[in-house]
Amino acid sequence: MIRNELDRIIKEYHITIDRFDDVALESRCLTETMQETSTKISYADNWFKINSLDINDKTHEQVILSQLMFYKVIKEFTNNNINIPFLDILEKRLDLPILVTKTKFDEYISSIVQRSSNLIIVDIFGRIYEDFVPQKERRRLGQFRTPEPIAMLMVSLLLQNCKRNQSYNLLDIGSGAGIFLLYLYNIALSKGVNMNLEGIEINPLLANALISNFNLYGYPIPEIHLKDFLFMNFEKKYDFVICNPPYTRHHSIPDDKKNKLIREFKRRYGIEISRLSSMPVYFILKALNVLKDGGHGIFIVSTEVFDAKYGVQIKKFLYKHIQIDFLLKFSQTNDAFPDVDVTAVIISFTKRKPSNAHKIKLGVVNSLSYQNQILNDIGKHSDGHLKYEWGEMRAVYQTNLDPEFKLQYILNGMTPNSKVGNNIVYLKDVANIMRGIATGANKFFLLTDDEVKKFSLNKYVVPAIDKNRYIQDIWLTNEDWRKLKLSKKKVWLLYINSNSYIDKSLERYLSIGVSLGIPERSLVKTRKKWYYMEKRDIPPIIFTYLSRANPRFILNEAQVRPLNTFLLIYPKYVIIKNNLTEVLWAILNSTIVIENLRNIGRAYGSNTTKIEPREMDKLPIINPLDLPEGVIQEIRDVIAMFNKTRNRQQFINSIDKIIQEYLRGFGFSGIPLKARNQLYLSEYE
Ligand SMILES: C[S@@+](CC[C@H](N)C(=O)[O-])C[C@H]1O[C@@H](n2cnc3c(N)ncnc32)[C@H](O)[C@@H]1O
Repeated sequence: MIRNELDRIIKEYHITIDRFDDVALESRCLTETMQETSTKISYADNWFKINSLDINDKTHEQVILSQLMFYKVIKEFTNNNINIPFLDILEKRLDLPILVTKTKFDEYISSIVQRSSNLIIVDIFGRIYEDFVPQKERRRLGQFRTPEPIAMLMVSLLLQNCKRNQSYNLLDIGSGAGIFLLYLYNIALSKGVNMNLEGIEINPLLANALISNFNLYGYPIPEIHLKDFLFMNFEKKYDFVICNPPYTRHHSIPDDKKNKLIREFKRRYGIEISRLSSMPVYFILKALNVLKDGGHGIFIVSTEVFDAKYGVQIKKFLYKHIQIDFLLKFSQTNDAFPDVDVTAVIISFTKRKPSNAHKIKLGVVNSLSYQNQILNDIGKHSDGHLKYEWGEMRAVYQTNLDPEFKLQYILNGMTPNSKVGNNIVYLKDVANIMRGIATGANKFFLLTDDEVKKFSLNKYVVPAIDKNRYIQDIWLTNEDWRKLKLSKKKVWLLYINSNSYIDKSLERYLSIGVSLGIPERSLVKTRKKWYYMEKRDIPPIIFTYLSRANPRFILNEAQVRPLNTFLLIYPKYVIIKNNLTEVLWAILNSTIVIENLRNIGRAYGSNTTKIEPREMDKLPIINPLDLPEGVIQEIRDVIAMFNKTRNRQQFINSIDKIIQEYLRGFGFSGIPLKARNQLYLSEYE
């Protein structure tokens, strides 16, 4: 949007950037520039390395040119910038016209601010950078800036540890365009705290953006180390570190770098880091080196950093050696990072060994509009589980945390001791239930295999299923789905979100949607972008939502994302951890549970039962967590048999028998099925 606006202003003032598009097509240009002299080559090489770019890749050429454009903008508006030799050479060679004058730029900025009245824009050059360099590239480089409300919250939380008139030093790691430092300067000033600010940034372009931001506001420019943080030797120790680390996945971290870091942390902390770790793991550990003892750190990372398998090692280390003050997760409803499809978590820690009495505060933030309350409530919260206007918070002993447990579940209150201790529970006690995806226009968003090929959309589609009748059985195998695909059913869903990079073929397909009037459809037009799809994880179990006499729970081996003709059932972590997903699925298909459906759902004539997610929450089931090992094994055997024979009736009979036997132990044996269901209902209503 900003780019368009910039284009508009440039046009308005008769300054053209057409040349930009021309040169973008001239692939030789860059190569020649690189070859001019050997020193220049080495800088260019370095530039390519820093940015993980490949000179032979056309799209990368486009990135460099975008970067160059951005460089020109910041050069126009700062007199204090760090020269970037490679871009300097390139700039001279391409002789790009001057973009805009200072006055026009001011107009441009105020026009953005005016039009985004509900948004605070502090990191203006970060915003412009985002606009120039395609999202796909920034994602590859882990260059996602922190949105203003989150940056402000993190800075305020960190500064709660400061005293008026005291002096501290702080390091912003991967400072980017400087959003944290901008807030730090401001908030520290208003609190009367003397904060000596420093930043480390690997990318000179972003370091320049930071300087431009500080110049724009007339703030003193912090010391910026233009270095690779991971391989910098620090003499100095800091009172505070703050960081939104690059979210680079393991396969993009070069092997030699990985080996060096793994060796270093093994030597320093005795920790065996998994080679599959993403970049934030290294950043957190390295940050501990630069902190003073008793110093404070605050990071924002994707929950995946801790919840993936590779996260177990770092959790083990942190839980044991570092006092974690709080973890704050942003709920999915809160679009914390509007451009990135991750659940973010803030982790705040103090570099000291946690005492046995130390409790971690675990919060879930639903709304960032209550910054002051969040600060206050986190400060005051000491025990128990409380709901606040902005979300909720609980406190648990750090020593009680099991590194094997997913942080997501711990944050939701599923601490290792919270096993549901009853033989009958509601389904919601062991699983989360959601409605399937509502596309708003199945005809357009669902595609056959041929259509996917014809429009070259394979990057953008995921396996999906939209009709109950496509799955008659209770187990959807890969083969079943493949058959549907071969029989030309619409089994691919166009699954685009703010992360997707839109290429020419997608653009073409979307324009067909526009010509069909899809963006005007009632559901479609409520979306941020009309083609963004509702996000759903792949559910392990699917329920036929509107079922004609044949309601069933389907094991989703084919890993499809079902549409809203289905309910999606996500077993909770305790179930997954105990390997009970299939046992739960078998229990759900038992006659006693299926009979219960009638009590919770609504009948829609001719034997059709309709069940909404919140009704499904209340389905009483046999608690898989409470089954004796022997019973679980019997169920597993029956499942294995079903896998071979695919005889559904035999399967259900066998499961029914096991369950009846089990319930007999609780004195339920003489009660007829229907009455028994009511008994469960009245007991748990
Ligand atoms: C997720 S961005 C955060 C930027 C900024 N702090 C913010 O919050 O908006 C991560 C930043 O780290 C920088 N970076 C990546 N690897 C680095 C490294 N090894 N050393 C220093 N900075 C690095 C990237 O260039 C990027 O600017």
